[in-house]
Amino acid sequence: MRGLFILLFTTALLLQSHGQLYPDSERNVDTRITDLISQMTLQEKIGQMTQAERGSVEASGLWDIKNYFLGSVLSGGGSVPSPNTAESWVAIYNNMQEKALSTRLAIPIIYGIDAVHGHNNLYGAVIFPHNIGLGCTRNPGLVNTCAEITALEVRATGLNWTFSPCIAVPQNEFWGRTYEGFGESPGLVDSMCVAAISGYQGDDLSTDNTILACAKHFAGDGGTMNGIDQGNTILPEDSLRVIHLPPYFSAVDAGVGSVMISFSSWNNVKCHANSALINGMLKDEMGFEGIVLSDWKGIDQLNGDFKAAIKTAINAGIDMAMQPDNYIQFIDFLTQLVNEGEVSTERIDDAVARILEAKIQLGLFENPYADLALVDTVGCPTHRAVAQKAVRESLVLLKNDGILPLSKVNGDILVAGAKANDIGAMCGGWTISWQGGLGAITEGTTILEGITNAVGNERVVFTGNPNQVPDADYAVVVVGENPYAEGSGDIFGTGGSGFILSDEDKLMIEAVKDAGIPMVVILLSGRPLDIRDELVDANAFIAAWLPGTEGGPGIADVIFGDYLPTGKLSHTWPESFNDVPINIFRNNAGKEALFPYGYGLSFPTSVDGELANNMDLAVFPNPVNDYLVIRSESIKDATITITDLLGKPVIRKQENLSNRIIIHVGHLRAGIYILTVDNNGSRINKRIVKR
Ligand code: BGC
Ligand code: BGC
Repeated sequence: MRGLFILLFTTALLLQSHGQLYPDSERNVDTRITDLISQMTLQEKIGQMTQAERGSVEASGLWDIKNYFLGSVLSGGGSVPSPNTAESWVAIYNNMQEKALSTRLAIPIIYGIDAVHGHNNLYGAVIFPHNIGLGCTRNPGLVNTCAEITALEVRATGLNWTFSPCIAVPQNEFWGRTYEGFGESPGLVDSMCVAAISGYQGDDLSTDNTILACAKHFAGDGGTMNGIDQGNTILPEDSLRVIHLPPYFSAVDAGVGSVMISFSSWNNVKCHANSALINGMLKDEMGFEGIVLSDWKGIDQLNGDFKAAIKTAINAGIDMAMQPDNYIQFIDFLTQLVNEGEVSTERIDDAVARILEAKIQLGLFENPYADLALVDTVGCPTHRAVAQKAVRESLVLLKNDGILPLSKVNGDILVAGAKANDIGAMCGGWTISWQGGLGAITEGTTILEGITNAVGNERVVFTGNPNQVPDADYAVVVVGENPYAEGSGDIFGTGGSGFILSDEDKLMIEAVKDAGIPMVVILLSGRPLDIRDELVDANAFIAAWLPGTEGGPGIADVIFGDYLPTGKLSHTWPESFNDVPINIFRNNAGKEALFPYGYGLSFPTSVDGELANNMDLAVFPNPVNDYLVIRSESIKDATITITDLLGKPVIRKQENLSNRIIIHVGHLRAGIYILTVDNNGSRINKRIVKR
């Protein structure tokens, strides 16, 4: 390693002593770029425009990096070194960089990866909730911090480019990539994407905790007909501008370093071929000066043979081509096209300038190699604490009859459902592997462990089997989708079966209900599903999305009342398969939402203090019915009245349960009310404030 540095240093000195400007960090960026381009051969330039996959370049013993002057390497989903540790990543990155620096002009590579919810291909990295959940937090500051942490963990492994944030504005939950977007509203996506970009890139890309971001997938990926992945977005231009483009204007303003083109089509034209979209809107109108990257063999999908497709794509404004395994063919054809005058040298120079600028900004000419200085930060407790906060803020409470918050000190808790003890189920797709997977795929804390950590082993029983349901005072039943990524998560074409819970999940809920145990249902999913039956059976229902490795503690924080639920839906929640799509940007004629966009309950105790030491009291605002819960064994038979300040009673219904009394008060107007509890002659008066 040391020898390598000395070699490099002398190369740099040599270059400078021959009057080279581009290695000189004192020079301004444009001077360096112009100087470098003026010395590059066509072969070297086209190499810069080419991105190959880790597996393929490793198969060449890394020599393709040197022989073809490759500008970039990527890891596809699950494309990892063995063993999958930060140390091995640093080693492969440095080995690749060494090959790149051994070329005539010693231009470093940039290494890109889908770090879309944490550095998710790396074992042991912290995994944040997928974007659909982050959207529910309505907290851009938190999204910014999550992105900063991701940048740090990515840099810790040497890599310098993430294919994130996905700034899709998904309009149809059948789409298997719904969870990759922050939500169905362009305004929400807009604020979150700016926060994410500034978290990844910081103010200075050359520092060791920042990476290049990539806004994707341009444009209209979330608008395809029937939510079909890579499908066709049929929309007039003004609708595209209103729904799908706003986040791109903001991302460009925020200085995003790269933009990935969408596999999908807009009005039957593949985005990868659409010059009006890329050259016209993105580069000319929005003024984007960074790298336009094609998606995984996206160019190969265009009309005509591969050579014709390359001509179309590069002339449409694509600067770097993601050609995981057929990069040599790409290089050959693009070289021919330039020699034949089908692609201009100006177009090539423009593309190369954009790529070199990113490399200069990343400080790679000065600091091309990674070291192990940051590896201890990967998955560290501080990072996990932020992920836990992101989980609890992303949870959306859809129903609560007063069972929540659960008592931390009383009652036995049954945790039911295999997904309650499954890290992979909490992480979803794009985690360790492309599609994600069930089981202990990486380090984290399951929901079962989160609950056990909160209340102790003695009070918790677990079952994954609906035929064996141990008795308990409460149940937390965890259900949801199995992990998926991209098109394999599409629901259109499943005839609706993908939009309801599995038989296994339904059986588990039924079994708990039949056992007469009051239950909280936690849904792990990448989107809203048809949960009408489950809502009836559940005493409380939480949409937990795909919370990541800290799902367990984040969920425990809320169900035991240490934190109030604050999450608000980032999607309109459809009633059923037949109601999709339904959202704020449509004429939803005749369709009913189960829950509107922005819905989310809480349990704010708008009560001025404790009723008595042995009594908890909470008012639950609910759009339909406010209610009040009084927990105490000792007041089981008490007479309770609530009146307004003029003495008019407001109670509609009172339910006396074994360990709590639920009082339904209808829709309480904001104001002050008096609660009176008459308990065998002792009378307590209390003021209740509805804010
Ligand atoms: C996806 C992109 C991803 C790329 C690299 C493609 O299939 O559409 O979002 O960045 O693969 O893994
Ligand atoms: C890769 C993904 C990529 C996908 C495209 C997979 O093999 O792992 O990163 O997005 O192919 O189809």
